[in-house]
Amino acid sequence: MEISESVRWVKDVCLGSLQIKLRNKDPQTALHAANTSKLAAVVAGRLGIKDTLELRLGCLLHDVGKLLLSIEPAKRKLTYTDYEVVQKHPILGYMILKEAGYPNEVAEVALYHHERIDGRGYPFGISRNEIPLFARICAVVDAFDVMVSGRPYQPRIPVAAALNELHRHSGLQFDPIVVTALAQAAPQILGTIVSPRNLAIRVSSHA
Ligand SMILES: [Fe+2]
Ligand SMILES: [Fe+2]
Repeated sequence: MEISESVRWVKDVCLGSLQIKLRNKDPQTALHAANTSKLAAVVAGRLGIKDTLELRLGCLLHDVGKLLLSIEPAKRKLTYTDYEVVQKHPILGYMILKEAGYPNEVAEVALYHHERIDGRGYPFGISRNEIPLFARICAVVDAFDVMVSGRPYQPRIPVAAALNELHRHSGLQFDPIVVTALAQAAPQILGTIVSPRNLAIRVSSHA
């Protein structure tokens, strides 16, 4: 991909309607999206991935399907019925991104980021290398950010405790190679996680 085209994409995403809509509807999910994208870039560097644009965009928009949900999952603990609704967001996100003209590599991050290495994820229950690498990276950094940032119904935990949790589920929920890469990048990621106070500034800083 040419640099000018890449720049156009990044501006399109960051200044365009999807992130702004997400931020307006659900600021915490937008903050989480920005963190996930930044963490994914750090992990990709550790894994020797040179071209990270699609990964970063996919992570920035991985939860965009939540725009179409009737509930706001980041704000409270989910009931069983809520959970069934929330499980639709990967497919909804994929549809939004394909409709908006994003390439498969970007849309597939949204589609597969809740799949698990052991095949017990959703929406399809695919496993291991059937899950695209960018989605496997997103799954790890997604979970990590939720743990270290916390939720209204779930207190944040320290980075070391979050890494321990990832290791505990490595090879089951998460790709071990990605977990190891994130753990190795721990000193680097401490300055990466965005605080809620800076949401507006940090999201626009992707442009
Ligand atoms: Fe998600
Ligand atoms: Fe997420």
